[in-house]
This record gives sequence, structure tokens and C-alpha cells, in this order.
Amino acid sequence: MSFHSQVIYQIYPKSFYSASGGSTGDIRGIIEKVPYVASLGVDWVWFNPFFASPQRDNGYDISDYYAINPDLGTMADVEEMITAFNAEGINVMFDMVLNHVSTEHEWFKRALAGEREYWDYFYIRPAQISEDGSQLPPTNWESKFGGNAWVRFGDYTDEQGTPLYYLALYDRTQADVNWHHEPARRALFDVVNFWYDKGVRGFRFDVINVIGKDTVLRDAPAGVIDKTLYTDTPVVHTFIQDLNRSSFGPREGTVTVGEMSSTSIENCVGYSHPAQEQLDMVFSFHHLKVDYDQGQKWSKVPFRFAELKNILNDWALGMQAGGGWNALFWNNHDQPRALNRFGDPQRYRTESATMLASVIHLLRGTPYVYMGEEIGMIDPVYEGIEDYVDVEAHNAYDMLLQQGVSADRAFEIVASKARDNSRTPMQWTSDPDVGFGTSKPWLAPAVASDAHTGAGISVADEERPGSILSYYRRLIALRKEYEIIAKGSYESFALDHERVFGYERVLGEQRLLVLNNFFGEENTISVPKAYALSKVLISNYEDADEQLAAGVALTATADEFELQLKPYQSLALLIG
Ligand code: GLC
Repeated sequence: MSFHSQVIYQIYPKSFYSASGGSTGDIRGIIEKVPYVASLGVDWVWFNPFFASPQRDNGYDISDYYAINPDLGTMADVEEMITAFNAEGINVMFDMVLNHVSTEHEWFKRALAGEREYWDYFYIRPAQISEDGSQLPPTNWESKFGGNAWVRFGDYTDEQGTPLYYLALYDRTQADVNWHHEPARRALFDVVNFWYDKGVRGFRFDVINVIGKDTVLRDAPAGVIDKTLYTDTPVVHTFIQDLNRSSFGPREGTVTVGEMSSTSIENCVGYSHPAQEQLDMVFSFHHLKVDYDQGQKWSKVPFRFAELKNILNDWALGMQAGGGWNALFWNNHDQPRALNRFGDPQRYRTESATMLASVIHLLRGTPYVYMGEEIGMIDPVYEGIEDYVDVEAHNAYDMLLQQGVSADRAFEIVASKARDNSRTPMQWTSDPDVGFGTSKPWLAPAVASDAHTGAGISVADEERPGSILSYYRRLIALRKEYEIIAKGSYESFALDHERVFGYERVLGEQRLLVLNNFFGEENTISVPKAYALSKVLISNYEDADEQLAAGVALTATADEFELQLKPYQSLALLIG
């Protein structure tokens, strides 16, 4: 079965389930929950990194690609976990963080200790001397986590006595690896092959479109954050082709996905077109910036529906036209819960969670489900900034205060965007400890009950008909049952409707119309008459058949009829 009809489940290991009763989730905890994951019907499980790491960036700062973080388990545990998933017909996907290593990684430590051959593994550059003689970092690039992207490299200087710096586009302890240096590149490819030999068949490549910095690094224009200086450069494609040829490409049964930050459709077609021999699919993030104020993440404004819909439509059309393939997702470990951003967790938690699920699962691409999404988990309600663990949240809070934003407002903004929102413990029960296996988790749990209905937000509570969980299971199964979902082409529908995001999928004589009301009130939409005798493939309201019949009986003209969609209703109609 190809990845077109498959679905991938994402587990944040630190927060999934603790078998040991320690403060974090662990590998043995994941093994205990294999039956639950299998019950979803997914084909792959992607794990965020659980390799040895000082945890400055929750495991994305890797100090040894070949060792397991002892808080999470052992190599034997990981091998057992792979076998346990494989026994259920599920493949595993590991997170390959190949753009940077922790400054605790052997390569960096040896570089810092003065072993010159390891200097080539990194971007080490002298300070710039400005006209007045003062020293500036080698370029004015901004770190993604705030501040300048260069960090002083020990006490080293060049021959002129100018201080040296290393590049760190993320945290200052995550040193960017110089992919131009062949031995560094080869050593990274070895990592992928090592894990392939352990039975890992899926690879998610972290921030892979920033691996191709130019050999001469240039300043961005003053006052501008110009990511194009190191993002999506032509050499990224060359490097990924080399990665493909040297690791997963010639090997059987692999599926790969690249995380592409600040990218373009054109580049993503290149990354994922089969003939390019790069990757199978790509994550892009434009649709998750529609609640940024003027491009600024650390802001809090309502999401712009028209923009969201246009982005989803443009990417669906553009990737299809170019022959590329999208990874489809609303949530991951870096995003606040989509339900809080685009739904109504207060009044319509079930309806809006299932509507959002339909949007993604019926589109052209491969859907990803982030743990807890399938039970409608929502953002935590924390009391103060100290409840957040993520370095990015703290940096952002400090930055907002420095900009003169009040402490209350800064907190409110951080609370709406922090990555910890999605990293709270998975809710197995709605008890105070959410059945996580420990009463002292590393990050406090989110809210475990529905504000409106009082029902628990947990796996235990969701194991019933009509729940968000059962809806996800149905959607995952539908992709396998109906080729039109996996293989059909995408067509725009009613693009100018202000409240409903609709689209059609087409395969031979078959057509599938997917309508999604993004708002908490009823909204009417005109539907072509051909759908009058269609079958309701799925809806998040029970009486959709009667609703369709009533729409046709009461409003049909020669060409079309009206459907009145209920709050956050999603409806998929199949003909042929
Ligand atoms: C990716 C990861 C994120 C991490 C960053 C640096 O964006 O998803 O969690 O902080 O890369 O590795």
C-alpha cells in the first residue's frame, strides 16, 4: 500500500505514557499503548527524537544519534518497541535532526577542544568589524528562537585576532552542521542507515530545507529578517538528493517527509516530485500562520478564514499541478492545538474537532494525527510563565516585555502560541493525573473536561459511538476504502464562500464533495444538482441524510440546491 492511502500518527514520547512512574513518558510506556495506536488504524508512527540529548530543545539538540535518552529507555526498549509496532502492521518513523547537533555532541566538543578537522563540521566565522571598528557577529541573521544566530566559539580568534563565532539558527546549543563538508554529510547519512538496519522505515527530516547555507554568508538588509539567505537554496535539493542516494533511496519500503520552514510551493514540488529523487512528501506551515498579526507569531488575533482557505486551496492545486505531495496536518509538537485556534473548544468541541479532521483527511496528501488530537485535547490553562518549560516560550515572553508589552498581555500571547500547548501529557483518563502513569509529569496536564458538556477529554471517555475518536477511526478507514480519497484529483469549490471551505475530489466517474462550515452558526451553501442523489460518505452530524433530502426537496432548481450546514458541520457527498 502506498503512502497515498496511509495515515501517520505522531507520538511525543516525553508526554505519551510513563511506564516507570518517572516524570516523563518513556519507551516502555509506548510499548504498553501499542494496542491503542493499532486500534486507530494508522499505518505509521512518527516519534519525536528520543536520542541522547541535554534537552535544551526537548530532544532536538542531539548529543548522540546512536544512544537513547536514559530517561526514556534503552536501545533494547527501542528495538522491542519497533518489533511491537511491526507485529501490528505498523511501521515506525524516526525524527532525523540533521541540520544541527547539540554543542554536547562529540563533533562539537572536539572542535571546541581545538581539533581543527572538526571545525569544518560547523559554520565557524570571524566577527565583522564595522566602520567604527566595533565588532558585530559574522552576519545579522536572527535565530529562530530569538536573538542573533551566532554564538562565540570558545575563546578562539582568527589569525588577525578577530573573535570566531559558530552558527546556531535555533537554540545557541544547537550548532548548525556544515553540509558542504563531505565527511560531515556522510556521517549524517550513516545515522539514517544505522536506524534503517534496526528496522526503521520512515524518516522525518527536521528543518531539512535550511541545510544549504551559501559558502559565503551574507548579511540580510538592515532591519529585515531575510530567511532566503539560508532557506530553500538550490544546493538544498542537491544535498537531499545525495541523502536519498546514500541512505533510504536504494533501500526497500521507506517513507520520508521533510519539514520545510518558510518554503514555497515551487520548492516543495521539487522536494517531493518522485522524479526528483528527494523525499516522498513535505510539511509546510503557511496555513498555520493565519493567526499571526503581520507575520509575527508572538501576537494574538483571530484567524483569517479567507486566508486559511486560500492557502489550503493554493497548496492543494499547486502541489497537484507540479506532481508533488503534501503531508496534511493541523497539529504537531510545535503548534498550539488547532482546536483552540480554528475551532470552538468551549461550545462545539466535538463538532469543530471533527470538522477540522475532515478537512485534512479528505484532502489530497497524507494525513498526520498528533497524539491527543483524536480525542479533542485542548490547550492547557496555566497560571504563569513559570508553568511553561519550552525555551522558545520564555524567550518570547522576555522579548515581549522588552518591547513594552504588559506582563498580562505577554502572558496571554505566549499562552496562545506556546509549543508546550501540544506537549502536555496524553489524556488516557479524565482523572487529575490524566492516567499518564505519574502524578508529577514534567509539564502540567491540560484541561481534562469539556467546558460545555462536562464530559471528560480522554481516551477512556472517547471510547464510545459519536465521539471524536470514533470519527477519526472512520476517517482513517475511509482513506483505505475509497480510492478517490487517496488518489483522486483536487478541485476548488465555492472559493469565495465566506464561511465554508469546500472542495471536490475526482476520480474517473466519481466525485466527492467535501463541505466544512468553519463557524459556530448555520451557513448555507449552493450545491450542484448532481449531488442530489449522492451518498453521505461521512458527516459529523447524525441526520445528514435527512438534511440532504430536505435541502433537495425544498430548494432545488434546475442546476443546484441549497444545503444548510449546522455549526461546524462537515459533510462529504459521493457520487458515482
Ligand atoms: C523543528 C522541530 C522543533 C525544533 C526545531 C529545531 O522545527 O519540529 O521542535 O525545535 O526543528 O530542531
